[in-house]
Amino acid sequence: MDKFRIKGGKALRGTVAISGAKNSALPVMAAALLTAEKVTLHNIPKVRDLITMSKLLAFMDAKVTITEFPSSDYVIEAPKLNHAEAPYELVKTMRASVLTLGPLMARVGMARVSLPGGCAIGARPVDLHLKALEQMGAEIGTSHGYIEARAPINGRKRGRLKGARIVFEKITVTGTENILMAAALAEGETVLENAAREPEVTDLVVLLRKMGAEICGDGTSTLRIRGVDELHGTEHTVIPDRIEAGTFLVAGAITRGDLTITHCAPEHLGAVIAKLGQAGVHVEIVNETTMRVRGAKKLVGADMTTEEYPGFATDMQAQFMALATQAEGTSVIAERIFENRFLHASEMMRMGANISIEGHTATVRGPAALSGTVVQASDLRASAGLVLAGLVANGETMIERVYHIDRGYEGIVEKLRGVGADIERVHGTGSWSEDSHNKGM
Ligand code: EPZ
Repeated sequence: MDKFRIKGGKALRGTVAISGAKNSALPVMAAALLTAEKVTLHNIPKVRDLITMSKLLAFMDAKVTITEFPSSDYVIEAPKLNHAEAPYELVKTMRASVLTLGPLMARVGMARVSLPGGCAIGARPVDLHLKALEQMGAEIGTSHGYIEARAPINGRKRGRLKGARIVFEKITVTGTENILMAAALAEGETVLENAAREPEVTDLVVLLRKMGAEICGDGTSTLRIRGVDELHGTEHTVIPDRIEAGTFLVAGAITRGDLTITHCAPEHLGAVIAKLGQAGVHVEIVNETTMRVRGAKKLVGADMTTEEYPGFATDMQAQFMALATQAEGTSVIAERIFENRFLHASEMMRMGANISIEGHTATVRGPAALSGTVVQASDLRASAGLVLAGLVANGETMIERVYHIDRGYEGIVEKLRGVGADIERVHGTGSWSEDSHNKGM
């Protein structure tokens, strides 16, 4: 398995371009299953999870065309779906495979999707996705580790879900996306309350509308979907990855560098920019797609609680923790979304960080002089936090299990090297897929 070797201490300077959002590209690709016509997608990030999603669509008999490998442009055509199934082999490597459940139920009236199970950051059940589908008339059972779902037939050739009023007990991003897609072809109107407001959900709504779906309320916590009989093909460009952009903001800040970040959407980063401001980091919004971050002379501790959008994203918590280790004073970091998302903290402690954890709260006291050592990445964003810590650590940091980072950050080594970081990929034997715990996202 590959590793990253980082020699810390370089201030990052220059310009870095942000790729498309992984968490937008995943549902948008799954949504292509909703029509027999061609869906052309652009700005798909060249990361492992999107390759897994394209394998999954191909398994179902969708035709996935790319002109180079890896590619940021995909053409997906699914005239017939012969296998309405997401097999364990693919689901175990990517939880987001569950995003095919809604489209399959909508398009073919049945689905067999392997239960994703837990992952490093928590139990991550999909009960809310299933409850909502049941409210839409689906019959759902689990057997042999698979979710087996069927829409009511009512004398038709294939089942069709019925619109319903669904109130999510908890805000769920992929749950909202799954039900949006399911409702787009259901009979009648569906109202989703307490829906996720993440920009990635809105991006999916924009795509679905281009395909002919009737949806209103995007960006709010109530979504109304009037089901239509058929959706058609379209072309769509995925929004920029706000978590990748946020990670580079922290990279500029933590190394006391000067980074211009292009091809991004600063409007999606309000909470991160505000929190960096509290920590003494100034982020300049140059224009609608460009930001500039300059390292503060003095970083100061700031408390932070992760929340659903528009709050501070859990996917930026590990990166913020790395920054907090370098800030003067105390930062209290509360993780409210996932039950076990502090695995990076113990690795940062091994590098010399002063962090204490009690339940869902981490208290970071800084600044600490970090020193490089061998650390293990436990999930995608934890890996990003460790890379950031490595960039300021004294000496060499070796990060193992970087297949996690390859799932969601396009060309992270090349992008960091391009702005002056001393980082390299050390190729190992074996591959990411050999690790049976490679479950996540
Ligand atoms: C999405 O995961 C993202 N993944 C995650 O990104 C992100 O961390 C997360 O949302 C929160 O923002 C994708 O978009 C592909 P949730 P998702 O359902 O949808 C509980 C990354 O690093 N819950 O919003 O799986 C759940 O356990 C990843 O890119 C239930 O209890 O997250 C969690 O505590 C990691 N039952 C909370 O809700 C359910 O049926 C929010 O999870 C569903 C969720």
